[in-house]
Amino acid sequence: MYPTTTKAPVNETTKYAQKDAALAPRFYTTDFDKMDEIDLEPVREEWDRLLQEFRDDPNKKHFKRTEEFEGDWSHLEIRDEFIEFLVSSITAEFSGCILYAEIKKRVKNPDLAELFGHMSRDEGRHAGFINGTLKDLGVGVDLSFLTKTKKYTFFQPKFIFYATYLSEKIGYARYITIYRALAERPELQFHPIFSWFLDWCNDEFRHGEAFAAIMHSNPKYITGRNKLWIRFFLLAVFCTMWVRDHMRSTFYEAMGMDTTEYDLDVFRKTSEISKQVFPVVLDFENPKFIRRMNRMVENTRKIEETREKGGPIQAIRRGFLMLANGYQFGRLYTMKAHKNEVPKDFRLTPAY
Ligand SMILES: [Fe+2]
Ligand SMILES: [Fe+2]
Repeated sequence: MYPTTTKAPVNETTKYAQKDAALAPRFYTTDFDKMDEIDLEPVREEWDRLLQEFRDDPNKKHFKRTEEFEGDWSHLEIRDEFIEFLVSSITAEFSGCILYAEIKKRVKNPDLAELFGHMSRDEGRHAGFINGTLKDLGVGVDLSFLTKTKKYTFFQPKFIFYATYLSEKIGYARYITIYRALAERPELQFHPIFSWFLDWCNDEFRHGEAFAAIMHSNPKYITGRNKLWIRFFLLAVFCTMWVRDHMRSTFYEAMGMDTTEYDLDVFRKTSEISKQVFPVVLDFENPKFIRRMNRMVENTRKIEETREKGGPIQAIRRGFLMLANGYQFGRLYTMKAHKNEVPKDFRLTPAY
């Protein structure tokens, strides 16, 4: 179930890429009849405007590699961290591509079929573009191999909407924050791919708008007990990002950023955007909140250590550390969150 590499013999970096790419992509299936019931009439005008934008495909010619990419990239100082970043990005892009293509194939609702077709096209393009850079670094991921994984996890449509909405908006916030940091300090831009992030993040932003429209138009997804699910997904996505980024903080430092500040900035942007449709905003700036997330980082570091050491004692230790992370997550979940009044009318938000 590991993706094969296309170039270099298996070195440590390749192994990491293989491990990460194999762990992260998930293949989901859902209740397509339920998806067909989605009513888009309440947001018809904005929906049609959005679909027209997708048809116009403003980024059609954007993802072309230029001569800037030529050259030897094997001696980058933070090559390993860069590869980790690219692998986690390509995994997210490619998982989106597969999921959206599957939904497009299976839904009967023509609005959704068209939307998911466009979004799958975009994500496929993004994944291919990242893979070009991974190949330059000698660790291209064989994307077709991943599609052969037949294990699908069932996810209710609403969970797909919460998770993908957040991952699109957080993806936008991550790309734009990096882009702006490097625009301020161009001497720190160690690879041309970052110059592509501005238009790229616009794609993710528009994908997120589509999910916002769907949820706004079908308010059952964002009211009642579902508010608890929204909090759960917000927290899961934020904690995952915090832990992952802090595990590879040298990558952000190399671009002149402080990892904690970068993450908080991304959370701020994501929370501000998500007020268009989510009735709740996490209290992530609360020092207690940050302390608990940092404990999760410490535990995760120790978990990595136990994996490196191996053996039954370490396995037991790992079990306790995972429980400790579960405990921190539970405590974070019970912390008070801010209420948000979702606007009555749905209007598309311009990116940037
Ligand atoms: Fe994407
Ligand atoms: Fe996207």
